[in-house]
Order: sequence, then structure tokens, then C-alpha cells
Amino acid sequence: MRLGVNIDHVATVRNARGGAHPDPVRAAEAALAAGADGIVAHLREDRRHIRDADAELLAERFRDRLNFEMAATDEMVRIAQRLRPRAACLVPERRQELTTEGGLDAARLYDRLAPVVDALRARDIRVSLFIEADERQVNAAELLGAQAVELHTGVWCEAAADEKHHRRADKLLGRLREAAAEAGRRGLEVHAGHGLDYRTAGAVAAIPEVLELNIGHFVIGEAVFVGLGEAITRMKSAMLAGRGL
Ligand code: PXP
Repeated sequence: MRLGVNIDHVATVRNARGGAHPDPVRAAEAALAAGADGIVAHLREDRRHIRDADAELLAERFRDRLNFEMAATDEMVRIAQRLRPRAACLVPERRQELTTEGGLDAARLYDRLAPVVDALRARDIRVSLFIEADERQVNAAELLGAQAVELHTGVWCEAAADEKHHRRADKLLGRLREAAAEAGRRGLEVHAGHGLDYRTAGAVAAIPEVLELNIGHFVIGEAVFVGLGEAITRMKSAMLAGRGL
């Protein structure tokens, strides 16, 4: 089971002061040295954290470990085709949102997504679609020819954080399990991400089809207290423990 570390918020902190520190490329290097299996970076339309120059350097230095999160726009497709990261994850993007708020409606956006998936695959980029845990979306991802789906765990994580919502949390975790099993049956690789912390990462790691977790905000936040390397070590331990390993 792999851990992808999303370094967007290292760039958020850097951009708060407009200088060069802390450097997301240095964070990527440190994350990989500490045992992260991959690096995730989201080049947003408004460039609020990762910028073009970061994406260039990340691709140059860590192409084989880079999962490039992107909206399915012509501009991002052109950039991904040039950078040729190992993987790309297609996400919905709204300018006003604080973070990616939900999965891509792959079923409704089929015609828009089909040429994007083809263009990326033609460059040997492994394509995953960030979707809700819903059979319709898994079905659309398969028909589109994506190699992987990343199941959106954000809503479940919010429910799981509050004891009052434990019933809802159980139901949402059940949906994640069912969607993972369905994706696995269809031969899609299953990833999961958004809002995960040590506890929720452990719980989702227990789902046997899940092969990759992509985690940013919590790990970067924890790095303030324990250092990036230690936060990654603890996260990997939580994942292994959840998996029963
Ligand atoms: N996966 C996807 C598709 C995302 O958009 C994000 C947030 O950028 C993450 C994973 C990581 O989420 P978080 O920062 O909450 O760990």
C-alpha cells in the first residue's frame, strides 16, 4: 500500500510571504527520503499554491513519483502532456472553493472527460479520476478508460470526526467499501484521499482493494509539531496497522 504526500500546502505557506521558503520541491525530496511513495501536487487554475515553476521542477526531479492533480481543462492537459508525470488525477475545480469539495461527476461529464483521458494516456500518464463512492461513477471511470479511481473520503472523515455522527460515518464508510470492491471487480486500481488523518487513514487502509492513499493537509500540519519525516513515518505505521500488517 502506497502513501502519496500532497505538498500543496508547503507552497501555501511559502506564498503567504511571497518569497521562496518553504520550498515545495525540498519538501518533496524530504517526503520521499522519509518513505513517501509518491508526491502529489495540484496546479490550480488560480495558482494559489503550486505554481508553474514548481510543477516544472517537480516533474524534472521526480517525474516517476509525481501524481499531478489537475482539472480537465485544455490548459492543464497541455501542461500535463509537456511535463509527463507518472500519474495524473482529474479533479473538479471551482475557483471559490477552499479545497476540492467533492468528486468529479464522471457520469455527467463523460463527453468532456473522454478526450482528456485519451490525451493523457497517449502520453503514458496513468489516469485516475477523483470520484464519490458511487457505482455510477465507478462505471463511468471504467468506460472512460481510466486506470484508477481515487475515492473521495472527505465527507466520511468529517462525519467520523464527530461522535454524534457515528451512524452516518458508518454508512459512509460502508459506501467506500462497496465502491472499492466494485472498482476492484472492474479491474480499476483503487486509491482514496481527502481529509485523512492517522485514525481515518488506518480505517480506510483496512479496505483490501485500496492500494494508495493521498494525504496532504494533515501530514503538512503535523510536520509543524513532529517534523515532516516523523509525520510520514507515523502515517505509514497507521496505514500498515489499519491493514493488519
Ligand atoms: N486527493 C485529492 C484528489 C485532493 O484534491 C486532495 C486535496 O488537494 C487530497 C487527496 C488531499 O487531501 P487532504 O489535503 O485533505 O489530505
